[in-house]
Amino acid sequence: MHHFKYHDNVLYCEDVPVRDIASQIGTPFYLYSHATLKRHFQLFNAAFDGVDRLVCYSAKANTNQAILKLFADLGCGLDIVSGGELYRGLKAGFSPDRIVYSGVGKRIDEIDFALDAGILMFNVESLDELAQIDRRAGILKKRAPIAIRINPDVDPKTHPYTATGLKKNKFGIGYEAALDSYRVAGKLENLDILGVDCHIGSQITEAGPFQDALENLTHLIAELKSAGMNIRYLDMGGGLGITYADESPPSLQEYADAIISQLKNMDLQLILEPGRVLVGNAGILVTEVLYRKAGEVKNFIIVDAGMNDLLRPTLYNAFHAIEPVENSRKDVIVADVVGPICESGDFLAVDRSIADVKSGDLLAVMSAGAYGFVMSSNYCSRPRVAEVMVHGDRFNVVKARETYEDLVRGETVPPFLE
Ligand code: LLP
Repeated sequence: MHHFKYHDNVLYCEDVPVRDIASQIGTPFYLYSHATLKRHFQLFNAAFDGVDRLVCYSAKANTNQAILKLFADLGCGLDIVSGGELYRGLKAGFSPDRIVYSGVGKRIDEIDFALDAGILMFNVESLDELAQIDRRAGILKKRAPIAIRINPDVDPKTHPYTATGLKKNKFGIGYEAALDSYRVAGKLENLDILGVDCHIGSQITEAGPFQDALENLTHLIAELKSAGMNIRYLDMGGGLGITYADESPPSLQEYADAIISQLKNMDLQLILEPGRVLVGNAGILVTEVLYRKAGEVKNFIIVDAGMNDLLRPTLYNAFHAIEPVENSRKDVIVADVVGPICESGDFLAVDRSIADVKSGDLLAVMSAGAYGFVMSSNYCSRPRVAEVMVHGDRFNVVKARETYEDLVRGETVPPFLE
C-alpha cells in the first residue's frame, strides 16, 4: 500500500499533484511519501507484536536524513554498514544502543567510531575481523559487543548480486565453522558475545529461505547456550522483497509468522534489518521526456534521468514500472526509456509498453525509494538530483539538487600545473 495515486488522470503523492512539484523544482527528482514510510514501518513492526524485537532499518536502502529522522522518531533502530552510515544515523537521532553494524570490511577508524559511540552490536564476518575488534576494544579500553554473522548456505532465489547466504558468497562465517568461531571469540578478552546474526539476501519473494536459515541458526543457538554462552539476540537480517512488477512476496504477517513460529521459547530478542520493504514503494523518481526518436528497430523515449540517477535497471536488469504523471495520452507504444548518458546500458526500461508520451511530458519511475538515490553517482558530471518529501498537502526539498560548483568541490589543481 502506498500513497501514489491518480485522481482524474493526474498522479498525486498523498495530496500533492506530482506535476506541481516538478514545475517548482524542475526534474529529475526523487519523491518520497511520509505517510507511506510511516505506515510501512508501523505495519512491519506490528507484524511482530507479542515478540521481543528491535526493528533496525537498513540504512543502505536510503540514507536521507529526513527518512532516518522519521524512523528514529518512530522508535526504530538502525542497521549500518559503514562509518558514514553511523555518522548519518547518529546525526538523525538514532540512539547508539539501537544500532547494529554489519559488513565484511570494517576499517579500524570505523570500528573505533562505533566503539566510541557505544553501538548495540557488531555483526562480525570473519576471524580476522573478530581479532581486530578485540584489539581495538583493548586499546580504547572498551567492551565490544558482538554477534557472528553466520552464512547458513541457503538459496534465497534472488538475483545473484543480491544473494548473500550461499557458501560461495563473501559474507559471514560458514555454518560448520560457526561453533569454533564462537569458541575463538569466547577466548578474546575484550568481546562480549551477545548474539547470532544472518542476512541471506535481498528482494526475497518466498518465506521458505528465511525459515531454512532460521532452522540452522536455532540449532546453533542451542549449542552455544549449552556451551555456556549468553546469547541474547538473534538478528535475522533483512531481505523481504516487494512488488516491482508481478512478484508476490509473502505479506508482512506471513513473513513474521514464518519467523515467529520457529523462535519457540528461545528467550531471545529478535532483531530485523528491513530496508527495501520499508522504503522501496514509498518513493518514485520523476523525470521529463526530452525527445522521442524512432530508431530503425526500436522506439526511444529519451528522458532527463539516467543510469547515474537510478542504476538498478542496468545493474540488475531490474524492472521498475514507468507511469505518466498525467495520464492523458491514450495510445500505447513499445519503446526503450533511455537516459542522456553515453552508454548503451543507460536505460530505465527496455521494450516497454508505455503511453505514447511526447517531449515535455513527465514520467514517474515507480518503486524507486530503495537503492535509488543512494546508488546514484556523478557519472558524466551530472549533478545528483533533488530529493523531496511529501507530507499531506505540503512538500519539502529534503536534499537540494547539486550544482556545478558541487561537482568540483574538493578538487584542486596541484602547484606543478599552475
Ligand atoms: N542487512 C544486511 C546485512 C544487508 O546487507 C542488507 C542489504 C539488508 C539488511 C537490507 O536488505 P533489504 O531488506 O533491503 O533487502 N542494491 C541492491 C540491494 C542490495 C542489498 C544489500 N544488502 C538492489 O538495488 O536491489
